[in-house]
Amino acid sequence: MEKLKIVGGRPLKGTIKVDGAKNSAVALVPATILAESPVTIEGLPDISDIHMLKGLLEEIGGSVTFENGEMVVDPEKMVAMPLPNGKVKKLRASYYLMGAMLGKFKKAVIGLPGGCHLGPRPIDQHIKGFEALGAEVTNEQGAIYLRANELRGARIYLDVVSVGATINIMLAAVKAKGRTVIENAAKEPEIIDVATLLNNMGAKIKGAGTDIIRIEGVDKLAGCRHTIIPDRIEAGTFMILAAAAGEGVVVDNVIPLHLESLTAKLREMNVPVEIGDDKVFVGKAEQLKAVDIKTLVYPGFPTDLQQPFTTLLTKAEGSAIVTDTIYSARFKHIDELRRMNASMKVEGRSAIINGPLKLHGAKVKASDLRAGAALVIAGLMAEGITEVTGLEHIDRGYSLLVEKLSRLGAEIWREELSEEELEQIKS
Ligand code: EPU
Repeated sequence: MEKLKIVGGRPLKGTIKVDGAKNSAVALVPATILAESPVTIEGLPDISDIHMLKGLLEEIGGSVTFENGEMVVDPEKMVAMPLPNGKVKKLRASYYLMGAMLGKFKKAVIGLPGGCHLGPRPIDQHIKGFEALGAEVTNEQGAIYLRANELRGARIYLDVVSVGATINIMLAAVKAKGRTVIENAAKEPEIIDVATLLNNMGAKIKGAGTDIIRIEGVDKLAGCRHTIIPDRIEAGTFMILAAAAGEGVVVDNVIPLHLESLTAKLREMNVPVEIGDDKVFVGKAEQLKAVDIKTLVYPGFPTDLQQPFTTLLTKAEGSAIVTDTIYSARFKHIDELRRMNASMKVEGRSAIINGPLKLHGAKVKASDLRAGAALVIAGLMAEGITEVTGLEHIDRGYSLLVEKLSRLGAEIWREELSEEELEQIKS
């Protein structure tokens, strides 16, 4: 097991490249199950969630290669193998295997998903959708059993705007008989990306990216080649770290439209941001002003950038309120940042941050993926050395982070944990 070590205060300069979107990737890979012939996806991030999904596709009989960001999945020999335990429990996105396997085989057994602990993360809307399409869904000893004689299109109104439920229902409905309408659908760019792949495979999906998605079921889907969209959350993380510790950083391979809410907030704080076609430039930020943020569904401020943004706010003059309306307990980074001299506290669904304060290096632990990003940014800003453990979370969503940040001039490296540190983690 490793930890990250960061010598803070090094000025970051240059260009940093964004990879394919994790939250698209984790749905695109399961979507390949629905095809009858090989599917190629280009630009996938080299993160542990993708390796885990590759293993799961292989467990059900798929033949999969993954090299230089390109995955080729041959689904021809796949079967409806039950997956009640093992890798499915390790990632949130394993729930997409439910929609994809139900859509293809009319049955699936999938263990309840894992992922980051951010407060309650029910999947009732996914299940409501599967049932509306004609599936019988039961929960038996921590695994979801889905069975249908046939799937029939239906009108489904989501009570909660959910990315996962919207995509999962699309996966289950593309081969159902007749028309499915998803109302109050989520509008995130990742949903458009998954719909684009499915349409290239022969599906008939209209309206992805709006709150009403219409799907005409088809009998067969075929293989195709698809290029994934860039990761707006990785891009946003880099923009925030550029504002926190940069002296002129170009974030390359972005769709600036996907980052409008963050760009607006950074500018409100006094951070110079210039927008190009597929890159953004974040200039040296001085005399930052505190701003409040409230996370919302797309195109609002993304919950996945709330934690990194909180770190940046320690550098701003005044007091800021950060409210997470999506996840009630996404504040586990706050205690860790306090160890680094931040002045912040949590009240209900909000964190209150007072600044400016100089952060100090400390030993901290990433409790989840974006908390990890928040702590890495804090380490880059801080005086002295910061050690971050819990790297398994960071590795789920950021590929080659050490290499990318080193190229910008950061002093950051991975180191094996000592016996003593391992003991401490276990206890
Ligand atoms: N919700 C329900 N019932 C459901 C589904 C969701 O009540 O059936 C609630 C959730 O508890 C939450 C809200 O609805 O309060 C939104 O959840 P959503 O379903 O949109 O989230 P998700 O699909 O589980 C994805 C990303 C998350 C990201 C959210 C919001 C993946 C694998 N995960 O989760 O990403 O925060 O959308 O944008 O795509 C991350 O990347 O760090 C991450 C956690």
